[in-house]
Amino acid sequence: MSPAIVPPLSDLPSPPSTYDRADWAGAFRNVELELENEPLVAARGEIPAELTGCLYRNGPGRLERGGRWVHHPFDGDGMICALRFSGGGACFTNRFVRTEGWLAEEAVDQVLYRGVFGTQKPGGPLANAFDLRLKNIANTHVVRLGDDLLALWEASSPHALDPATLETRGLTLLDGVLKPGEAFSAHPRFDPGHHGEPRMVTFGVKTGPRSTLRLMEFATEGPRAGQLVSDRSDIFKGFAFLHDFAITPNWAVFLQNAVDFNPLPFVLGQKGAAQCLRSKAGGQAQFWLVPRDCGAFAGQQPRLIDAPEGFVFHHLNAYEEGDQLVVESIFYADFPSIGPDMDFRSIDFELIPEGLLERCRIDLTTGSLSCERLSERCCEFAMVNPTREGLPARYGWMAVAGRDQGNDPLQAIKKLDLMNGERRVWSAGPRGFVSEPIMVPRPGATSEDEGWVLTVIWNGARNGSDLVILNASTMAEQAVIELPVAMPYGLHGSWAAA
Ligand code: CO
Repeated sequence: MSPAIVPPLSDLPSPPSTYDRADWAGAFRNVELELENEPLVAARGEIPAELTGCLYRNGPGRLERGGRWVHHPFDGDGMICALRFSGGGACFTNRFVRTEGWLAEEAVDQVLYRGVFGTQKPGGPLANAFDLRLKNIANTHVVRLGDDLLALWEASSPHALDPATLETRGLTLLDGVLKPGEAFSAHPRFDPGHHGEPRMVTFGVKTGPRSTLRLMEFATEGPRAGQLVSDRSDIFKGFAFLHDFAITPNWAVFLQNAVDFNPLPFVLGQKGAAQCLRSKAGGQAQFWLVPRDCGAFAGQQPRLIDAPEGFVFHHLNAYEEGDQLVVESIFYADFPSIGPDMDFRSIDFELIPEGLLERCRIDLTTGSLSCERLSERCCEFAMVNPTREGLPARYGWMAVAGRDQGNDPLQAIKKLDLMNGERRVWSAGPRGFVSEPIMVPRPGATSEDEGWVLTVIWNGARNGSDLVILNASTMAEQAVIELPVAMPYGLHGSWAAA
């Protein structure tokens, strides 16, 4: 008898999808209601009494206006929600960011602006050609900085909000740090204190035939909270598309994807700006390693290292190990885009590439690179325990597809042991769909996975949004709270401890 041949993981047949498309698409809707401090009760389980603080989430809250749908949900106006926890209780506040564009469109109930991801004004290309205004929709991320809550959108200035009421204070230049309209990433990283005080590290990129990358670090605690404490700018050759980055004690790590940008269809009113991005055939992606001012390589030039093929939006984490810099990222085989003739509600998941978690190890002495895949399961929105940001971390938590292989909507939350590949999965399926998980360490925790994972899910069975609280170690469900507002799939959020 010949021994059984076990095919490599990637050659195994994918099990069929089990979700219902109508359940998934039910989340594409407008939020019509704004609530303030609405008390919440757990429909199942109990809210942990030690969970004290606020979960802020941002995402598109308006997807249709006057019968016209956005071309891509990323073009929807930013709506913030705040879920406040204390003593085993919780309350809910939600509010649209009062951007200039939202106010103008709300007043006339018409689409007045084009969207970066392909939303057009009524009237076809003629009505859209040469309208190159950007509508700052403030919909990508929300973080505390100093006395403000910042609603972030990477192509322009942040909006400052009141952290308690979510009222919009207005566009902010952060006490003169930014020039009007200057790009400010929607992906700050929070250094837990690699060099003493904790910091918010972030960047802005001004692109063209050459690109200027500005790296900024802000104090987040004490009397200097919100102040800029470090600032450097570097110029790189070529067009840059940088959505996220990663930090270590000594480095800010960027992955410049091999993409081309042809603005002509945007200028002519045929496509949104982001639809003009294409993977560059034969192009070479690069890691851009920028020395942090507080680190051992301060003042040195950035280092450029060839990166593997593929497209990356998000990183899980980065860390240093001796002379090696390790970066863990979610790779797509190609730049995923929704073309002008496609309806996002009917996209075929089989035809778009899935995100796969990979670890790249850069030898800083030789510049050589080695990569390994950490999981074959489609994932997005991954994070480590925030106290391990920039340091070697044992565990990652991430949103994953409902099945082990193939591209599908995100329906489960996975805890992955990054050292030995062991995993634990909590599933919202078959009728639930997850968003970004936020890992919140338990106060006084002594192990890395002690705490909770919070995620807002779309519950297709009741056509509503639920907040789910999981035990971060076991991934057991601790509480499910039915939210009083049904919300489209969100983007990013953050936890502010009380
Ligand atoms: Co992002």
